[in-house]
Amino acid sequence: MCTGPVTYRCFRMPGNAHTSPLSTNLAGVRLSNPVLLAAGTAGTLDELADVLDLRRVGGVVTKSITAEAREGNATWRIIPTDHGMLNAIGLANIGIDAFMRDYAHKARSAPTTIIGSISEFSIDGFVRVAAAFASVPGMPAVELNVSCPNVNHGCEFGADETLLADLVSNVRRVLPNTRLFVKLSPIAMGRPGIVAIAKAAIEPPGAQPMGPNQRPGADALCIANTVPAMAIDVETRRPRLSRGGGGLSGPGIHPIAVRLVHDAFHGICKSTATPIVGIGGVLHWQDAAEFVLAGATAVEIGTGLFADPRCPLKVAEGLERWVRRLGVTNISELVGQILPPDDPTATP
Ligand SMILES: Cc1cc2nc3c(=O)[nH]c(=O)nc-3n(C[C@H](O)[C@H](O)[C@H](O)COP(=O)(O)O)c2cc1C
Repeated sequence: MCTGPVTYRCFRMPGNAHTSPLSTNLAGVRLSNPVLLAAGTAGTLDELADVLDLRRVGGVVTKSITAEAREGNATWRIIPTDHGMLNAIGLANIGIDAFMRDYAHKARSAPTTIIGSISEFSIDGFVRVAAAFASVPGMPAVELNVSCPNVNHGCEFGADETLLADLVSNVRRVLPNTRLFVKLSPIAMGRPGIVAIAKAAIEPPGAQPMGPNQRPGADALCIANTVPAMAIDVETRRPRLSRGGGGLSGPGIHPIAVRLVHDAFHGICKSTATPIVGIGGVLHWQDAAEFVLAGATAVEIGTGLFADPRCPLKVAEGLERWVRRLGVTNISELVGQILPPDDPTATP
């Protein structure tokens, strides 16, 4: 069901961000700039504050939290590749009870916006963590990770429209005041296709909005997670990651993610006014700018933090110079503003 574009009431935005060319309204969540730290790459919540001034990033997405604590996979679970990183962390995290006890209070006092990431293997598990996050002051949105390639069944919800629609409508019910973001997998590019899976998240059949300012499904899409991949040690002839396969991130996946964002924007997100967060291989401001032109309202940086923990600040500074150079008042005016390809008869 489509209820049409929703006009979003805004949550907080710190400092003088109202006048900044980078101030961003992400589905009603006000960000001082559109550069966020990606789930699982910045600690559980605010640990990167030791090396990075969090006031200068748009937000932090927490480590994906599951209902029970998880050890994750055995080492090796991260290895470098020529064009990024392979990881098979396996959703190692402290679990929702320890998160609520030790971290939830930090969301309110954090100097930036905190978005809670959730991973699980059943609808009940997702709902349990979402219900807990809904009670966290200072957490205006949650991100459902339905796209983890590093655990058994980690991508199931992100690869099946019916399962995903069911999950989104159930989680929606426990989030009366919290925005719902859904993080999709690049594997959706094949079957059912990124537009079909995005539609299932945005317009789950039969779901009802819980209020006049709510959508029945996702408020925003995060595109995308890592790409299923593998590396083999040719001497031992064994996979280099203990789990065998893993997920590729970093510059190698950036063009794939740009294409996914572009196709989702034109296929459904533009017509339903659903913002997209572009994720994959952002190291430089140009990578983020590409995502914006393809249709993203914000970006997340993961692997870039391992190369240079301060790269989000450089990305934000570069974006600001770009916006001023192009003579627009706010970066939102550039969302989806890619020009036609050189061959006007070709489709992208
Ligand atoms: C070490 C590592 C851990 C990750 N953990 C999570 C996680 O817990 N939840 C999640 O949704 N994505 C996780 N991701 C995926 C990232 O959030 C991001 O989607 C992906 O790495 C692509 O972005 P990048 O190229 O900027 O790294 C992880 C990625 C890496 C490299």
